[in-house]
Amino acid sequence: MISETKAIRITRAKESKLKGQNLAELKFGSQFTDHMFVADYVNGAWQVPDILPYENISLDPATSFIHYGQSIFEGLKAHKSENGDTFLFRPKSNWMRMNHSAERLCMQPIPEELFMEGMLQLLNVDRDWIPSGDSSSIYVRPFMFGTEAFLGVRPSSSYRFMVILSPSGSYYAKPVKVKIETEYARAMTGGVGSAKTSGNYAASLFPASLGQKKGFDQLIWTDAKNHEKIEESGTMNVMFVVDGKLITPKLSSSILAGITRDSVITIAREKGIAVEQRDVFVSEIISAIKSGTLTEAFGVGTAATIAHIESIGYQGDILELNPIANRTISPFIEKYLNDYKRGRIEDKYGWLVKV
Ligand code: COI
Repeated sequence: MISETKAIRITRAKESKLKGQNLAELKFGSQFTDHMFVADYVNGAWQVPDILPYENISLDPATSFIHYGQSIFEGLKAHKSENGDTFLFRPKSNWMRMNHSAERLCMQPIPEELFMEGMLQLLNVDRDWIPSGDSSSIYVRPFMFGTEAFLGVRPSSSYRFMVILSPSGSYYAKPVKVKIETEYARAMTGGVGSAKTSGNYAASLFPASLGQKKGFDQLIWTDAKNHEKIEESGTMNVMFVVDGKLITPKLSSSILAGITRDSVITIAREKGIAVEQRDVFVSEIISAIKSGTLTEAFGVGTAATIAHIESIGYQGDILELNPIANRTISPFIEKYLNDYKRGRIEDKYGWLVKV
């Protein structure tokens, strides 16, 4: 619990927006619950945090993050089990990654207790919003931005850490068509690609929009220097099954260390599937598709969960992959992970935190 002096103040919304919502039919990230968590870091200290009715926030036009991008976020989900318990999935990993992002962006680290209690108490206040059913969950979005009103280029001296909740369905409603991007880049060696910072997503929008005009749902990013090595897919990490082995790009300064990525690797190893984390070359993936040794390709992410890839575009060609119905490894891991998150199997890795 947050120490007594820092106990979270709770101001409840006068009226809930929940009435009339259909929690079974929600698009990703489009509805928000009744409350939000807010904690300010000012004058060298975290102030008493608040849970407030969800509302607009007011900012000085010179607020530093608007101009220079000190803005980081996380994404995690809480799931309901059949007996009505709710479990957050791997929140400590999100806390650690958020502070990795904070360090890279020269921002104030967030104490573990503030991060965990802020989320847990907010989920508790808005627990009626947590949907049940295997394809729904509540998406938790912690984020932090520099709040000092100052136009010089230097780290902000004050920060706001917030959490909002969005009851959500799947990010991708069906298997995805992706394009291997060989002109634009999301991140480069030594850059901020391993941080979950807003600018990485902004950088992806224009190339992604060009891909969407050609009918692709997403891009697969390649290394910024030569576009020879596969990196990630923007909203998710990417994995392939070739000759029965699970292959995924090894982590680097230009790839986000996905928590779902780590969970999938852990489960695959537990089930005796060989896993290779290494440089993955575009050329080997294209040859493996053509020779039929590549049997599965999928994205892994919190929002996306397991997003099956049905086709890959490369240099003007569309390569159709093995039909989803013929795949074995990714559907197995998808089900196992879903059961794990909902407390249907033993929590052997200590990944679940009860709300
Ligand atoms: C997530 O999977 O949580 C993400 O942050 C990806 C995307 C929705 C931005």
